[in-house]
Amino acid sequence: MKILIIGSGGREHALALACKKSSNSHQIFCIPGNAGTESIAKNVKLEINDFDKIRKFIQESKVDIVIIGPEQPLVDGIVDYLNKFNIKVFGPNQKASQLEGSKIFTKNFCKKYNIPTANFGVFKNLSESNKFLDSCNFPIVIKADGLASGKGVYICKERKDAKVACEEIFSGKFGKAENILFEEFLDGEEMSFFVISDGETFYNFGTAQDHKRVLEGDKGKNTGGMGAYSPSRLEDKKLNNKIINKIINPTLKGLKDIDTKFIGFLYAGLMIINNEPYLIEYNVRMGDPECQTIIPKLKTDLVEVINACINKKLKSINLEWYEDKSLCIVLCSMGYPDEYKKNIEIKNLDKIHLANNEYIFHAGTKKINNKIVSNGGRVLNIVIRSENFKKNREKAISLINKINWDNGFFRKDIGYKVIN
Ligand code: AMP
Ligand code: GLY
Repeated sequence: MKILIIGSGGREHALALACKKSSNSHQIFCIPGNAGTESIAKNVKLEINDFDKIRKFIQESKVDIVIIGPEQPLVDGIVDYLNKFNIKVFGPNQKASQLEGSKIFTKNFCKKYNIPTANFGVFKNLSESNKFLDSCNFPIVIKADGLASGKGVYICKERKDAKVACEEIFSGKFGKAENILFEEFLDGEEMSFFVISDGETFYNFGTAQDHKRVLEGDKGKNTGGMGAYSPSRLEDKKLNNKIINKIINPTLKGLKDIDTKFIGFLYAGLMIINNEPYLIEYNVRMGDPECQTIIPKLKTDLVEVINACINKKLKSINLEWYEDKSLCIVLCSMGYPDEYKKNIEIKNLDKIHLANNEYIFHAGTKKINNKIVSNGGRVLNIVIRSENFKKNREKAISLINKINWDNGFFRKDIGYKVIN
């Protein structure tokens, strides 16, 4: 089978490796991929927003299935576009992708279907927002409506922070803002909950906890994710059932009401308060680095699962998992998430020996003259799977020490809530 994966992060390397493991005879392409995917797939230099060129490549290379990794092309309608040419794609269409593409769409959707979420208000301009801020309680959460790579969310402890947030959002920092979203601050513990759906059937696809802040102890600026572990320590049968009944089922039903369905990975970002789940946000894809953490736990052949999903036959699949714990540490470029240098060689990678259940997934890397150099803020994902989180973290850190990349830094405390 010929499989095309769109994206260039650690998530896409993890998906590519799982596809390769499915059968060596699968031919895998990545657009654009990274230095890691290059060793198991053919990287194709195309822009992920150039749908025409991607479609031509798919048709000329006779690609059988396409897997979309990141949110932007999904929100921009790549699935609808490719489906028009009878190309088989794993990912939600544009209508369903509004769940991630518009936070206000999702809040209104939650209200309509009684899905537990933070109380909220939508305001149209600075004067309306300021008027509300003059009399509300703090902290308050302020969000830009559209995609903002995790940056359009402000947790405001005081009125003056909230006013700055509104000014930045309405001045267009995250694209043209016609609305702004205010939310009640929810105080609980976060959990990422995943399902895979073919539009008719869905299965749980694991849970995880990621560490979004750059500094140890979950302090400092927000990032794309500094590490993750799976399963979440909060997961149990009772909570899973509540999440399915109160959040996932009404969402999938709501999508049917607007005449669409969800095909792909659905990622619910939850806040758990006194064992009750509240939806913070939806993502219409796997998380990164949650994907790198969860995929190594999947026992069932990923290509079979995805193929069944595309053909609406997920029901025929028996999804099986390793009971192990999995932990991922992200090795970043010094300076991330602010300014950082690119093109710094990572020398020792070829000297690293990986045992079974140990993985190095590339993210911001590329190959120049046979050397692997950094090409982004999050550079490598070191993932270990075993029966014990502590052992995983120690092993991951020892591998990072062996890589000994002098432009890198990482959090040594990933998983502290399940380890200490
Ligand atoms: P998001 O980009 O929506 O995932 O938000 C980024 C982070 O902000 C989340 O992972 C939460 O830690 C936090 N956050 C978002 N909304 C709320 C809320 N209503 N209450 C508390 N924390 C929130
Ligand atoms: N790890 C957070 C995300 O993928 O959005």
